[in-house]
Amino acid sequence: MKPTPKRFHVRSFGCQMNVYDGERMAELMAADGMVAAADADDADLVVLNTCHIRERATEKVYSDIGRLRKAARVAGRDAPMIAVAGCVAQAEGAEIVARAKVDVVVGPQAYHNLPRLVADAAAGAAALDTDMPALSKFGSLPARRKVGPSAFLTVQEGCDKFCTYCVVPYTRGAEVSRPFAAIVDEARALVDAGAREITLLGQNVNAWDDGEQGLHDLIRALDRIPGLSRIRYTTSHPNDMTQELIDAHAEVESLMPFLHLPVQAGSDRVLKAMNRSHTRDSYLRLIDRIRAARPDIALSGDFIVGFPGETEAEFAETLGLVDAIGYAQAYSFKYSPRPGTPAAGMDGQVAGEVMDDRLQRLQAALNRDQLAFNRASVGRTCAVLVERRGKLAGQMLGKSPWLQSVHLLTDAAIGDAVEVALTDAGPNSLTGVERVRVAA
Ligand code: SAH
Ligand code: SF4
Ligand code: F3S
Repeated sequence: MKPTPKRFHVRSFGCQMNVYDGERMAELMAADGMVAAADADDADLVVLNTCHIRERATEKVYSDIGRLRKAARVAGRDAPMIAVAGCVAQAEGAEIVARAKVDVVVGPQAYHNLPRLVADAAAGAAALDTDMPALSKFGSLPARRKVGPSAFLTVQEGCDKFCTYCVVPYTRGAEVSRPFAAIVDEARALVDAGAREITLLGQNVNAWDDGEQGLHDLIRALDRIPGLSRIRYTTSHPNDMTQELIDAHAEVESLMPFLHLPVQAGSDRVLKAMNRSHTRDSYLRLIDRIRAARPDIALSGDFIVGFPGETEAEFAETLGLVDAIGYAQAYSFKYSPRPGTPAAGMDGQVAGEVMDDRLQRLQAALNRDQLAFNRASVGRTCAVLVERRGKLAGQMLGKSPWLQSVHLLTDAAIGDAVEVALTDAGPNSLTGVERVRVAA
């Protein structure tokens, strides 16, 4: 028997869907009578909401567990109860219990059972749940509470694409879309709770459909919610980018001019080995159609360097693609072999130093383009949604429609929209000068 925890802390790693899940777990535990602790060292239950996407992300969970226990020991406190949630929980399950002796293991599709699992663990029983029930967890979660001006809303989970390097189809399961009405209800609740911007989330968000309607229909329905001024969505797969969704970028005012559309690599041979099901050329033509619909759209992407067998010439094709597109921002990673994925067993694993060198060159090109995009924004006037206080007195931080961070001096409050002139640009943020307060 252990004392039943009273103060919890959730720490989320990985993608935005984990951030969303972390918020929902916190709401669940609060509804169960526990109190949120601002710091993990001040909690008697720590939920580590983990990511399995790359080896380093996975190792973090074990080093974090060690650190939490050591901090308790040094302070002369009892070690906190530890619950491992998220994608490492799903992938490694019982192995985590064996290796790190954690109290609770709960997968991404089972976390609505967290309060019961915590009670089981307190009673000394095994508490492991990595089921992927057909009945969605969403129906068992409490209502949304207060949120910030920019909120996440998961609309689709899982992935059927099986890119050969990726663990997501195994950790998150098959592609499932939440029902239209449930999403619209949750969006309304988020707006009532203070949201002005909603980012729709899914591992393949543009594959959302309910049999009759697609993501563009959902976006058009959300556009009609009073008080919701901005809609975004992430992450999209190039093959699910329908013309209707592209048209929505031209027609729906609240749909922000930003698109995260990972390409991963610029060589057709590598793309095929990755099982990406798009080619370099089909991706470039898709980007042309998107830019025709919304010429000012900011494009973002993900890249993997050093996929097994990638030659220098093939990597140069990735650099050439980057030059051709001019991304506003992007994420890039060294290939990390993941247990159980086809690519981990492929011939031609690329040496670490080669990957380091390629990543550096790719990031130099991406940083160059990001700065160029930000500089090209100087002189524009746009709305900034104020999200938080800055470091200086009177300074606030928010986002432009193109998802750039903008800092400005203003007496506007968090959640206000301010029209600003963009006057200066750095690699990671811009300066705005207030012109008009727009009622949010
Ligand atoms: N569903 C999204 C995001 C998946 S994970 C998509 O399909 O784009 C986010 C990014 O992590 C991927 O786009 C990919 O660039 C990277 N990634 C996934 N598996 C990886 C691996 N084994 N090694 C390195 N990067 C990886
Ligand atoms: Fe992973 Fe590919 Fe699915 Fe994205 S589309 S989650 S990279 S398998
Ligand atoms: Fe990581 Fe799982 Fe997201 S592996 S990137 S937390 S879907």
